[in-house]
Amino acid sequence: MDHVIDIRNLRHAYKNHVAVQDITFTVAARSIHGFVGPNGAGKTTTLKILATLLKPQNGRIGIFGQDIVGMRNFVRRKIGYMPDHFSMYRQMTVFEYLDFFGAAYGLGQLQRDKVIADVLALTDMAGRKDDFIQGLSRGMQQRVSLARVLVHDPELLLLDEPASGLDPRARIELMEILQELRRLGKTIFISSHILSELAELCDAVTILDRGTVKYTGSMRGLIASDGAESACLLTLTAGHPPALDALRALPGIKTVTPGAESPAEIALTFEKEHLSPNAILTAAISAGAQVVSFTEDVKHLNQAFMDLTEPGVRT
Ligand SMILES: Nc1ncnc2c1ncn2[C@@H]1O[C@H](COP(=O)(O)OP(=O)(O)O)[C@@H](O)[C@H]1O
Ligand SMILES: [Mg+2]
Repeated sequence: MDHVIDIRNLRHAYKNHVAVQDITFTVAARSIHGFVGPNGAGKTTTLKILATLLKPQNGRIGIFGQDIVGMRNFVRRKIGYMPDHFSMYRQMTVFEYLDFFGAAYGLGQLQRDKVIADVLALTDMAGRKDDFIQGLSRGMQQRVSLARVLVHDPELLLLDEPASGLDPRARIELMEILQELRRLGKTIFISSHILSELAELCDAVTILDRGTVKYTGSMRGLIASDGAESACLLTLTAGHPPALDALRALPGIKTVTPGAESPAEIALTFEKEHLSPNAILTAAISAGAQVVSFTEDVKHLNQAFMDLTEPGVRT
């Protein structure tokens, strides 16, 4: 199965306010797929429909090849939905909370004990299992919420802005857990209103604005979507003039700009048709430079996002 989610011509209106209009895209199996758009773009509406909490008014949605309306119970077993608002049972301990959901999914006590130990280990919350949820930091509460979603071992995770409101450390920890989940074979569909937050994590991304898909495809394709140009940031151990010369001599290179204050940080733009990131890296190393990191240029990514979405305040 190539596509775990297959959305065709989905539309959804609240009374006469159209929140989602005619969106079509797919999510590949075992990928991390970002769902990005400004507030009010229609992300939560789409996720609720995928989670079978809202009925699609138009269009067809397949999950694991099954129609979401006709095969609701099948779909519910396959998915783990983490809503944006976390109405937790705050008077409960972490263990009681997970045990409650395990029981709701029909797991017996022995099975629950095992599953809960597993999901607590995975989310790095084992040491907190007897803590009251109320007293946990937001980052930890998000991890408990994620643990809850994993209790019935779903193959597809639908996560609505799980990183929002987290401090940088908690966000990085969450991203690491999601990468681990992908390694375990899960497909992850994750929303955010900040594209750069998901850039490193995601294989693919769908950008939504005012209920319309503006881009769907690989993250790499998005970075180059403003034409044939791509951008990256190369960080060396120190400024290295021979490496700059070697980079400037590459066919397809457009600009090579060392940082004014930190010459070891070099911003590059290049024609993706004629030059690969691999060739750039090889040229720098062959010239004798020592490379610290090589990444997509986030500023460039933010610009791509701004270009694809319209300005203006929304709900
Ligand atoms: N229950 C609702 N009733 C009426 N309008 C809603 C409701 N939920 C969302 N909307 C509207 O639908 C649009 C999309 O909302 P939403 O799906 O929550 O977007 P996002 O998650 O991208 O911020 C917004 O304009 C929002 O105000
Ligand atoms: Mg939302």
